Amino acid sequence: MASAVAASKVWGQLSTHADEFSGTTLHQLFAADPTRGESLCLEAAGWSIDYSKNLASGETLALLLALAEAAGLRRRIDAMFAGERINSTEDRAALHVALRAPQSADMRVDGENVVPAVHGVLDRMSRFARSVRAGEWRGHSGRAIRNVVNIGIGGSDLGPAMATQALAAYADRNITSRFVSNIDATDFAEKTRDLDPAETLFIVCSKTFTTLETLTNARTARDWLTNALGSEAAVARHFVAVSTHAEAVARFGIDPENMFGFWDWVGGRYSLPSAVGLSLMLAIGPERFRELLAGYHAMDEHFRTAPFARNAPVLLALLGVWYGNFLGAGSHAVLPYDANLARLPAYLQQLDMESNGKSTTLDGKPIRDITTAPILWGEAGSNGQHAFFQLLHQGTRLVPCDFIGFCQSLHPLGEHHDLLMANCFAQTEALAFGKSADALRAEGVQEDLVPHRSFSGNRPSTTLLAESLTPATLGALLALYEHRVFVQGVLWNVNSFDQWGVELGKQLASLIAPELAAEPEPELSHDSSTNALIRRYRLLRRS
Ligand code: F6P
Repeated sequence: MASAVAASKVWGQLSTHADEFSGTTLHQLFAADPTRGESLCLEAAGWSIDYSKNLASGETLALLLALAEAAGLRRRIDAMFAGERINSTEDRAALHVALRAPQSADMRVDGENVVPAVHGVLDRMSRFARSVRAGEWRGHSGRAIRNVVNIGIGGSDLGPAMATQALAAYADRNITSRFVSNIDATDFAEKTRDLDPAETLFIVCSKTFTTLETLTNARTARDWLTNALGSEAAVARHFVAVSTHAEAVARFGIDPENMFGFWDWVGGRYSLPSAVGLSLMLAIGPERFRELLAGYHAMDEHFRTAPFARNAPVLLALLGVWYGNFLGAGSHAVLPYDANLARLPAYLQQLDMESNGKSTTLDGKPIRDITTAPILWGEAGSNGQHAFFQLLHQGTRLVPCDFIGFCQSLHPLGEHHDLLMANCFAQTEALAFGKSADALRAEGVQEDLVPHRSFSGNRPSTTLLAESLTPATLGALLALYEHRVFVQGVLWNVNSFDQWGVELGKQLASLIAPELAAEPEPELSHDSSTNALIRRYRLLRRS
């Protein structure tokens, strides 16, 4: 059994309801309630969230809300905000909400108010960002910094990389921002090939400061820099670190004076609003960064205080559970209609799939009878329309979609924005209501083409709309997804804050790495496939 909630009466009622509900169409739901488009829409932290085009009746929503109560969601939300050690397998709090709390707040871990320390680091980051942006912080040879290269991976890369692209319109365009993450040397080589080392600042960003990819890239960066500038002393002006691990930073050769810290109660994938956001702050400036934090905080407050029936993260999480656990959906698409949000799906993949891609309950029992996190995927609109939307409209799978858009463009050029948003709205309409065979016949479509050209509709979507893409609306959007993930973790009774599933591959890679180059060939004791792959590689590799 997965959890008490999966064994609860209301879970059973939802299963029965799912059977009864099958066959209900969005056409019927909208016809039965002409105000559905307005009543199933709510406002939260600058976002208007229309969830009316979901396959859910009043009864569905009532049962889902009862499920949240049965899972003790209120108590778990309170525990998170109270800094309890809800990350039980790592014996840590998950208090990322403190990263965006105002200075006057009091949020405690082990009895200590962490907000002053949070603001202390933010103030240091702000001073540093101002001095770099003003050209006061100089490189080793006296030149101002023009290039900022963040070296990190996972949560130490995806957040700042996604947000720096998202907020490019707010950035100082004299600063070039790059993100090196992959251990493939191509990533470092391509991202630095046009940069002048004398004007380049590296941020080595790693919560643990032990991550193989990041430390390998950081060593390569140090060689690249010191070879070009002819002095080891250059490291002091061209490297700063973001980490929770001061000793490891010092061991690497970065002065802890040039380190921006954060805390073990900040999970990597929740760390963008911490010092991990330094590269973003260098791009957009401290004031804009604080607007991002204010947006996060506004959504945190909505999540903490709104009744579940009007609570955006709670409702979206419940709908996700409805689709995944009761209607058989295996994936969830996120479709931002903004070219600069192109990295949002990748960012959300880590957030969602690393948090809830679990098959063990909090109390260590295997989850066999229900599914947990869906495969999250997506792409910016309208590009996706010309690629995978065919499957969304006419494929055999149920894929709930989030459409994300803005009423105002940051680049108002001619008709572009109206056309973009017309496409966004049209997709949600087409998915929901489809096009019947009769409508096609009335248009005179040839009979043998009617089955190919008809659209079943009844394909669910949620539309998230804000006035424009600002640091604040981005922060609120990210907090919305964070809390959605948290709520689902509560319902599935998993620990959303650990990631043991990434460890085995890392361990095996550390065993295989020396076997690829050792001479003579060492005895290989893997399975026959892995042994053969290693031998083939050894045969063809260039030493
Ligand atoms: O391997 C997964 C992971 O631990 C992520 O959870 C984390 O965001 C990433 O690696 C990077 O870790 P670090 O910031 O410690 O280098």
